[in-house]
Amino acid sequence: MGLNPIVIGDTGYMFELDRFSLECLSRHDPVKEFSVHCQSSHPLLDQETGYTYNIGISIFSGAKWNVLKFPPAASKNAKDAIKKCEILTTFPCRNKTLISWLHSFGMSKNYLICIDQPSYFNAAKVISSIFAKGICPKDMNEWKPEHKNRFYFVHKQTGKVVKTEILSKEAFFFYHFLNCFEVGDNLIVDVFCMPNFNLVENQTIENLRTGYKARDKDSPTLQRFVIPLIATDIRKCSESVPNLITGFNTTARAYKVDNKIVLESEILSDTRMEFSSINRKFLGNPLRFVWCSGAFAVSLHHHKIFKFDIETKDILCWQAKENQFVVLK
Ligand SMILES: [Fe+2]
Repeated sequence: MGLNPIVIGDTGYMFELDRFSLECLSRHDPVKEFSVHCQSSHPLLDQETGYTYNIGISIFSGAKWNVLKFPPAASKNAKDAIKKCEILTTFPCRNKTLISWLHSFGMSKNYLICIDQPSYFNAAKVISSIFAKGICPKDMNEWKPEHKNRFYFVHKQTGKVVKTEILSKEAFFFYHFLNCFEVGDNLIVDVFCMPNFNLVENQTIENLRTGYKARDKDSPTLQRFVIPLIATDIRKCSESVPNLITGFNTTARAYKVDNKIVLESEILSDTRMEFSSINRKFLGNPLRFVWCSGAFAVSLHHHKIFKFDIETKDILCWQAKENQFVVLK
């Protein structure tokens, strides 16, 4: 028997569609079902175990991350899948009233990784918006780059959350993880990072009407963060070690300062790219090829499709020209 697709957006509402007609068969409220107020739009299927994971945030009694775990494809429909879902763990967001923008998360063989980014929804504004008119999500956003990005990782088997405070050196805004994987004693986290919040902040109706165009330098680049697993026990990390990453070839750095781990990323390519597609068999494992679309802004990278070789850093580029795509090397 074929199964119907279940689709989801950042609000966390889940919709079961008829797989032939795409008619909506049922709609499920995440607050009623799981007590979460948003969910990632990109649930991840663990190919080894068949479990599907998602991450949500609940906002009542202080913002908290919630890890949702759906059992292997034994579900007859969305209602059944939701009934069988378990909350693997919950843990507090770093700020009780500032809710990180959540769109995707990462998964390696043993861990689920989420990033609390400094582009927030203000909980007080969110709650007051329920009773107000004329407010859009952007009106509830706050960008606080001084907070940097906090990385969390959770053990998939035990639900145990690593307590060490792990922060990026530079703040970034992102929509999508590319992939996460483990090599030796390192957890590698690849993310499409934007250096600021301009993409969202500048897309007001006023700006669009006056011909505002996004800028290439605000568009995402693919960046690699490497978390040395020794960081699971901060007491074992020494401040005198300039880079805690060992046994993995990268220019990324991780070091201890003030009882925290700071991550400096490796920029895998200067080419502005996003909205990736990969062979899903490699999800959670080292990945070589990634297909992306070009930058949001009018630029060298605009209106192009890339095939990026992470190993050699070569890029094949297709550009739309006179109704056909040409390959640019
Ligand atoms: Fe997405």
